[in-house]
Amino acid sequence: MNEIHKYINEINQHTENISREKILGDILGPTFGKFLGSFVNVLLYMNRPKEILELGLGSGYVTSIIAEYADIFSASITTVDISKEKIDRAKLALSKYSEYIDYQHIDMKDYIRNSKKTFDLIIQDSDPFSYKETLIDIAKLQIKGGVLLVHDATVVDQIYCPSDLKKVINEFNLYLKQSHLYTTSLIDLEDGLWFCVRN
Ligand SMILES: C[S@@+](CC[C@H](N)C(=O)[O-])C[C@H]1O[C@@H](n2cnc3c(N)ncnc32)[C@H](O)[C@@H]1O
Repeated sequence: MNEIHKYINEINQHTENISREKILGDILGPTFGKFLGSFVNVLLYMNRPKEILELGLGSGYVTSIIAEYADIFSASITTVDISKEKIDRAKLALSKYSEYIDYQHIDMKDYIRNSKKTFDLIIQDSDPFSYKETLIDIAKLQIKGGVLLVHDATVVDQIYCPSDLKKVINEFNLYLKQSHLYTTSLIDLEDGLWFCVRN
């Protein structure tokens, strides 16, 4: 057991070195915080995914955590964002990882509908209003045992959560829990994260 704790502390040094403020810069949108960032980091090192899909690049904070891992384990990252500004900004900020990252400037709904690739890990942090309608297409990109992380699971408990977002997240949470596509558990940190394993 001590060995596992030692290992976790060791791999989390990578996230400690990635300053959220440095990566976020002037883009202060809702994103994973430090605790969920560490969770993703530990998951990467335990699960060792080779093909990773990120829906919602945003500031590139999560991408930078995955990129550090990809650099060591030669994994490939596809990251999708509808905003050209976010893509251009991340390309610059994460230029040292460019050989591992495929940037896709496209609506994630179109990307997942048309992609022929299979992904070991998918991180959904794009548009919560589309989470429900895109779950089946996402599941088609994964085989049994594939991991899906969905952000914002508990954002409904936050005082700043607007009522329309509350409604769609509550609907999605119910839909996901009842779905036979994934076995789910909740990581109850920050805005919450669904940890889902493809059945
Ligand atoms: C909450 S941010 C992602 C934060 C990111 N995890 C980070 O570490 O900064 C959501 C991102 O999803 C993008 N987005 C929203 N709707 C989208 C869509 N339909 N297709 C692709 N990207 C989308 C937004 O442009 C935004 O950059």
